[in-house]
Amino acid sequence: MRFLLIFGVAFGGLLSACAQQQAGSLHPYDYTIEKNITAAKGAVVSAHPLASEAGVLVLRQGGNAVDAAIATQLALAVVYPGAGNIGGGGFLVAHLKNGRNIAIDYRETAPAKASRDMYLDSAGNAITKLSLDGHLAAGIPGTVAGLFASMKYAKLPFSKLIAPAILLAEKGFVITAKEAESLNHTREEFVKLNTVPTAFVKEVPWKAGDTLVQPDLAHTLKLIRDKGQAGFYEGETADNIVSEMQRGGGIITLADLKNYKAVERKAIAFQYKGQTIVTMPLPSSGGVCLQQMMMMVENYPVAKWGFQSPQALQLMIEAERRAYADRAEFLGDPDFVKVPVARLIDPSYIRSRMSTFTPGTAGNSDSTKAGLTKESEQTTHLSVIDADGNAVAVTTTLNGHYGSRTVAGKAGFLLNNEMDDFSVKPGVPNMYGLVGTEANAIAPGKRMLSSMTPTIVLKNNKPIYSLGTPGGATIITSVFQTLMNTLEFGLSPEDAVNKPKFHHQWLPDVVYVEPGFPEEGVQALEQMGYKIEKRGPIGRTELIKKDLKTGQLQAAADKRGDDGAAGY
Ligand code: DON
Repeated sequence: MRFLLIFGVAFGGLLSACAQQQAGSLHPYDYTIEKNITAAKGAVVSAHPLASEAGVLVLRQGGNAVDAAIATQLALAVVYPGAGNIGGGGFLVAHLKNGRNIAIDYRETAPAKASRDMYLDSAGNAITKLSLDGHLAAGIPGTVAGLFASMKYAKLPFSKLIAPAILLAEKGFVITAKEAESLNHTREEFVKLNTVPTAFVKEVPWKAGDTLVQPDLAHTLKLIRDKGQAGFYEGETADNIVSEMQRGGGIITLADLKNYKAVERKAIAFQYKGQTIVTMPLPSSGGVCLQQMMMMVENYPVAKWGFQSPQALQLMIEAERRAYADRAEFLGDPDFVKVPVARLIDPSYIRSRMSTFTPGTAGNSDSTKAGLTKESEQTTHLSVIDADGNAVAVTTTLNGHYGSRTVAGKAGFLLNNEMDDFSVKPGVPNMYGLVGTEANAIAPGKRMLSSMTPTIVLKNNKPIYSLGTPGGATIITSVFQTLMNTLEFGLSPEDAVNKPKFHHQWLPDVVYVEPGFPEEGVQALEQMGYKIEKRGPIGRTELIKKDLKTGQLQAAADKRGDDGAAGY
């Protein structure tokens, strides 16, 4: 499918010659959204077509999948301000052509001045607004440290990877109808939650075809280009962040920024019927929960039951319920709490977990609590596969749409509101309705539990899928279902991504279904005793499939947004 997005932008021609000369194949004033493409060498799929093109540009220049992932993330920080970021954090999972799996954790951390009860009033009630809106909601950004940690695996100089982002920020790019609507929708909050004027607010409402120029952000990106990580965590940018905190009652200090470190972790890798699933470990709950869910369904004839059959739906819902119950109880930052990961994925534990599964009858979350006894919308995903067989999956986030909606003063970028991913009080749901306990309580320097699940599937130690999605609590269930759609139900990449999804997260004890979910499925589940709630679209999944015989790549960008695929 090819959508003509932009037509006749008045001054597009004026800048485009110079802009496009520098940007190679980037067309910031006149671009199209490609949803499903095939490519012979390399492919990138992300939340914005210009960001995907930036990745392909770098591949064409001789970069590998890691180079492309870095360039795409930086471009997303400009063209997709709702979630692309340098003021947030993320996770990168990769399978390198030398056979190694890597996982880089650049999740935000709680500031040194953060404390367990910082979002409670004097009566002990949660004031969730504080963990969501403005300065106090922001964790220490991890993205820039993550990009430099990723450089270890890249081929090209950083200056080349950041060039498209600088150009897009400096010269601007044309926004889509969805972006215009989203900026207009958030206008009041931008005004309320900022202490300096931002690029995101203008006198008259935004409309499709307007050009968004971000000179302050371009300046910050140049500091990062010239000074490396210190261009963000020290000097002018750090000063900008800290003075913004001082103006707006935030607590991030210069020491917090200087002390931030991205961490390389051991990627989770587990077998599923002849394939290896490589995914993100803690502090994302995604990998552990995904492994639990796939282990729970593995011994049932799901492929025979069929896609969206009542039996398959029910089994997957019950697996989701059980994994999320364990998530709430046990999962948190492994550098701060002891998490019984080995026991949670032990086959005998998984079997005992499923012993209460009754085909045809809804389970319930009162009786299905966390299984072990205790020992003493905004995020974005991108996938890349290159010609050499390197595969990268990155999910990165500001948490809510445009994060805290607060820009770091003259530094021109939005700060996250990731602090809300902590459990601000046991049992009090966060913005995604997720509950938690001690394991995910706030502590200085601790990483808040995430659901982001960047995932790669290997066959014979070669990547055949790279995938992931945003969507808060629904991320893990969407990745789970997309994997089942491909590995069990044999759906095409396009269908695996776009067919309606469902979601159960233990509490509330409800099955959410998105628009277009078949009525027969709803009725069958209701007859079994499930409570169904219809909700808005679930996730924005990006997926690349590689055919190991022909080498052909198929990239599918989610139809739910402006997401675009590119390749060569
Ligand atoms: O890390 C997490 O799990 C959340 N901060 C993700 C937020 C998200 O996906 C919002 N997107 N729609």
